[in-house]
Amino acid sequence: MTPSEATFLAPPGEVADWRLVLLCDAVGGAGVFDALPGDADSLAGALGLDPHALRVELDALVALGVVDAGAGGGYERNATTPDAALLAVVRHHARSLKRWAGAVDRRVRDEPVERGDIGDPEAFHDALALSARRMAPAVVDACLARFPGARTVLDLGGLHGEYSLEFARRGLEATMQDMPAMIEVARRKGRLEPAGVTLYEGSFFESVPGGPFDLAFCTGITHTFDGERNLTLFRNLRPVVAAGGGVAVTTFLRGESPTSALFAVQMLVNGNGGDTHTEAEYRQWLGEAGFTVDEAVHPLQGPGARSVLFAT
Ligand SMILES: C[S@@+](CC[C@H](N)C(=O)[O-])C[C@H]1O[C@@H](n2cnc3c(N)ncnc32)[C@H](O)[C@@H]1O
Repeated sequence: MTPSEATFLAPPGEVADWRLVLLCDAVGGAGVFDALPGDADSLAGALGLDPHALRVELDALVALGVVDAGAGGGYERNATTPDAALLAVVRHHARSLKRWAGAVDRRVRDEPVERGDIGDPEAFHDALALSARRMAPAVVDACLARFPGARTVLDLGGLHGEYSLEFARRGLEATMQDMPAMIEVARRKGRLEPAGVTLYEGSFFESVPGGPFDLAFCTGITHTFDGERNLTLFRNLRPVVAAGGGVAVTTFLRGESPTSALFAVQMLVNGNGGDTHTEAEYRQWLGEAGFTVDEAVHPLQGPGARSVLFAT
């Protein structure tokens, strides 16, 4: 960090500029992006907002390049104004930012923090769907290269179902398990069941569908739990994995990348016992649950890259 980057007056930079994230969360979340074009007074009147505050925040978004100043003092969308899918991601980022701001200092001082929860199920669903849609083809390719004969898959904590949909596109019978509130959102969105994905609601620490499944697919879930719960999950999966089938665990492994180290902070501030666990820990838990872990770990490419561990 240079001295010129060290204050909040730094010039507009990347999309992850914290000012842009918070302003998009506030203004986009109040429905303003959808209502553009317009001037601050008429937009505020239509949406029940404070006209002065909206003008200040929209001017800042113009400075950051997210909306344009239009004719006659109004504002209009431009090519970088987030659409609904991107806004969901940015708003999730804003929630993380607020969480970090309130908790990193408390955690390092060993002061209590409120446990983070998923918040609004639909917002969480939308926030994670975009990156999953991008990652799904490569992750599914890796799984099917490892288990080419797989016909059935259980997608644990599948949420938006993007991975289940990708498996279904490849001709597998996919079952997605999640907590009731998440399954309700998936049902309401109406994309999964018409594509042939079976929905199963309930905690996988209590029970999992009987299967047997050629693949138990654990993506984006194990780093949200501590070791004890991961061991319980893997033990619950052992009886429902078919002979010749296996488990795929896609996660951030500690020490694997800068992203991994940063993601660990998100788990730290959530205070739920999640972490970027080590490869050795996964080997231990899967081994204790009766699985044999492949020697090689499959690295996924790209920013925010994760690794896939396979076990049989
Ligand atoms: C971080 S999201 C991951 C979503 C998706 N697999 C992905 O990688 O994008 C974790 C998901 O696990 C679900 N989950 C958490 N605890 C669970 C439990 N005990 N049983 C079933 N699902 C659970 C959450 O509801 C959420 O949908």
